[in-house]
Amino acid sequence: MEQTGRLDKLRITVLAEDSVPYETPYLAQHGVSFLIEGIRGDVIRRVLFDVGQNSQALLYNMRLLNIVPSTIDAIVLSHCHYDHTQGVVDVLKEMGKSDVPVIAHQDLFRLHFLVRPFLRHVGVMQGDSREKIESSGGTLFLTSDPLMIMPGLLTTGEVKRQTDFEEVGIDLKTIEDGQIKDDPVLDDISLVADVKDKGIVVVTCCGHAGIINITRQAMELTEESKVEAIIGGLHLIDATEPNLKRTVEELTQLNPGWICAGHCTGFKAQVELYLAFKERFSPLHAGLTFEV
Ligand SMILES: [Fe+2]
Ligand SMILES: [Fe+2]
Repeated sequence: MEQTGRLDKLRITVLAEDSVPYETPYLAQHGVSFLIEGIRGDVIRRVLFDVGQNSQALLYNMRLLNIVPSTIDAIVLSHCHYDHTQGVVDVLKEMGKSDVPVIAHQDLFRLHFLVRPFLRHVGVMQGDSREKIESSGGTLFLTSDPLMIMPGLLTTGEVKRQTDFEEVGIDLKTIEDGQIKDDPVLDDISLVADVKDKGIVVVTCCGHAGIINITRQAMELTEESKVEAIIGGLHLIDATEPNLKRTVEELTQLNPGWICAGHCTGFKAQVELYLAFKERFSPLHAGLTFEV
């Protein structure tokens, strides 16, 4: 793969998350959204990575953080789940622009559901259909390949499932040719920033592809061996004890400078990560800002 370039600086603002920091005015929701700002020379690109599930709460937090929706250049949707994609049309309307790249895996709009505790569609909701995204100013870039947003900032594309212990984490289904099949969430993509003199920063939203698989793919794509940070949801909430242990061991090997994890990471995994990484671990909350 060609050299993917480096950013001079990266800024990450958590716009939505399941929790908020102590004594802050932000609104929480089950779901995540990040503003990723890539800075390279005099070029700055502002990428909205997922939109949570409640656009009113998201836009409220954006106002508190002085983020003007019309300054967003592109949207990346990490996977189809409603807690990451619901309200993307509302956000596009608020941005009021045309031809905004909306980047996702090509399977984003498939039927995607749970049967426990009851039949429930959990994919992209009707209000955020392909047609509505396009008529609200979005231009869809649907691909399983990695896509460069600017040199130093790219999507992972569909993540190779290399490890033998990482799991999707939920019993999800789809229908193909009239037959009900298990759905391994192949559309789960993450963002990778390669920052000059620092290393790579991996931003996941749900991390259904497994954080070790995702980080390895990010390292391969950028040909970088130093992981500066991992931030996002690691979907370990229902991981078995041995799998959780393996994940923490492998993460220790990858030796990221810091980890900030929440959303679907789960309390137990957060505890294990804290015990392994101490002050290099922190829980994810809406309203947090990071500069690399
Ligand atoms: Fe999620
Ligand atoms: Fe998810």
